[in-house]
Amino acid sequence: MKIIKVNNYEELSKKAAGLIVETINHKPDAVIGMATGSTAEGTYEYLVKAYQNKEVSFAQAISVNLDEYVGISPKNEQSYHAYMDQHLFDHIDMPAENHFIPNGKAEDLMGECDRYEKRIEELGGVDLQLVGLGHNGHIGFNEPGTSFESKTQIVDLAESTRKANARFFEVMEEVPDQAITMGIATILKSKRILLLVSGKGKAEILKKLLESEQTESIPATALKGHNDVTIIADADALSLYEQKKNRELKSCV
Ligand code: F6R
Repeated sequence: MKIIKVNNYEELSKKAAGLIVETINHKPDAVIGMATGSTAEGTYEYLVKAYQNKEVSFAQAISVNLDEYVGISPKNEQSYHAYMDQHLFDHIDMPAENHFIPNGKAEDLMGECDRYEKRIEELGGVDLQLVGLGHNGHIGFNEPGTSFESKTQIVDLAESTRKANARFFEVMEEVPDQAITMGIATILKSKRILLLVSGKGKAEILKKLLESEQTESIPATALKGHNDVTIIADADALSLYEQKKNRELKSCV
């Protein structure tokens, strides 16, 4: 895994957006895998700026989102559909028929998982997948213990994930307890993966990810089995990992 260290969240967002713009300019009909959550917001802000400055057009590009809550309508403002509209789609020229997000309100949720998995294949796979890192090491909503062989699936959200995401809801009871998510094997099929990690709050899990062997108890370690993963991490997120490295170096002198 290649690590790009940046000074702060602003630089992380600019760098991530720059890589997406480069991908689309090289391949206008690229399939970009999108993540939601706080970390990706700045990236979308820079993508909107790049579009407004005519540095890129999304007219032929395709987006496939990692996940959506179960039981929440796309119109609900807490849905990831609404998040994507608000942060990206409402401000760029990607046609609505090119936006793919799992439907968490589907009557047949298992059927929806199969359809989503097949849709990604029909699109020719994901060229560049954006991924955030959960405090418990999840990627997409694949919580600790998820098989690395998993495909798009319905998952129970860990209590820690519900608590972390409660900030987007009025009360804790409103936070869904299930989601539909690309599986780990689905994510690993992407040609290139970009993992974004920012802030002191992620320092502990990033250190664990970088130091650990592949283990299902830290889903993000699955990324170590992929040959084109770039981590963009800011100084705060890397602080604990580097502290330990520095201590090791000192004790060798
Ligand atoms: C969101 C997703 C999650 C988040 C992760 C980090 O689509 O799949 O894995 O990327 O929980 O979330 P933030 O960026 O809010 O810390």
